[in-house]
Amino acid sequence: MPASGPTPGTPRIPRHVAVIMDGNGRWAERRHRPRAIGHRAGARAVNTCIDFCLAHGIGALTLFAFSSENWGRPEDEVGALMKLFLNALDREVEELHRRGVRVRFIGQRDRFGPALVERMRAAEELTGGNTQLALNIAASYGGHWDIAQAARSLAREVAAGRLDPEAIDEALLGERVCLADLPAPDLFIRTGGEQRISNFLLWQLAYSELWFTDALWPELDAATLQRALDDFASRERRYGLTGAQVAGRPEETPE
Ligand code: IPE
Ligand code: IPE
Ligand code: MG
Repeated sequence: MPASGPTPGTPRIPRHVAVIMDGNGRWAERRHRPRAIGHRAGARAVNTCIDFCLAHGIGALTLFAFSSENWGRPEDEVGALMKLFLNALDREVEELHRRGVRVRFIGQRDRFGPALVERMRAAEELTGGNTQLALNIAASYGGHWDIAQAARSLAREVAAGRLDPEAIDEALLGERVCLADLPAPDLFIRTGGEQRISNFLLWQLAYSELWFTDALWPELDAATLQRALDDFASRERRYGLTGAQVAGRPEETPE
């Protein structure tokens, strides 16, 4: 079975958690502060989330930091976010490395300035051999972009005569989307109260358990994450099968 394939039943601890960190702006607006202050407060919640994953043996964490669509926000907010990313990388990467975290970035990297691109490359190089936690930062990322880049990479092989178009199936495309080397997210968490995917990992979330909270991202604490894990552990993942099949029980036959 490929690493990303479905496994009936539910492991108690998710192998991979994917998070939409939403609500920074509203957190700041409620305090009559600029939205950038909310993003700064959100950076602290990132550490809470990483600490939680390390403490609970969650192997992979993917955080949605900046979407393809977020480039359309006011210039000063985008600028403040870029500064924050740069500072966070300078501040946190050594410590993440010390704690055995492998850092990776997914998204359209060439839209960032050269200083950020270089920090991203250096962080990936420094932490590439770590195994405690695979931390993936989705930045300038969109699920549509991801599927398009996977299709483009297969199209290149077809054009070069190395691949028969008829051989393209879900498994082959699934190998070219981001994070193909990790199990698909078992658990998706979105803070901030909205119940939507907002162009996050569209391919990879096909069978993830979805969990939403009204808590704004800067308010995130371990108790909220624990509630998500408890809820996850109570779910029955059926992957299209029947409950009896998943539990290994004989099917009940109607009288
Ligand atoms: C999420 O918080 C962070 C980013 C999208 C960069 P928001 O900035 O979307 O916060 P709200 O949703 O406006 O409160
Ligand atoms: C999703 O949040 C993107 C990130 C958290 C990075 P948005 O705030 O951009 O999503 P919408 O606009 O509410 O769908
Ligand atoms: Mg938002």
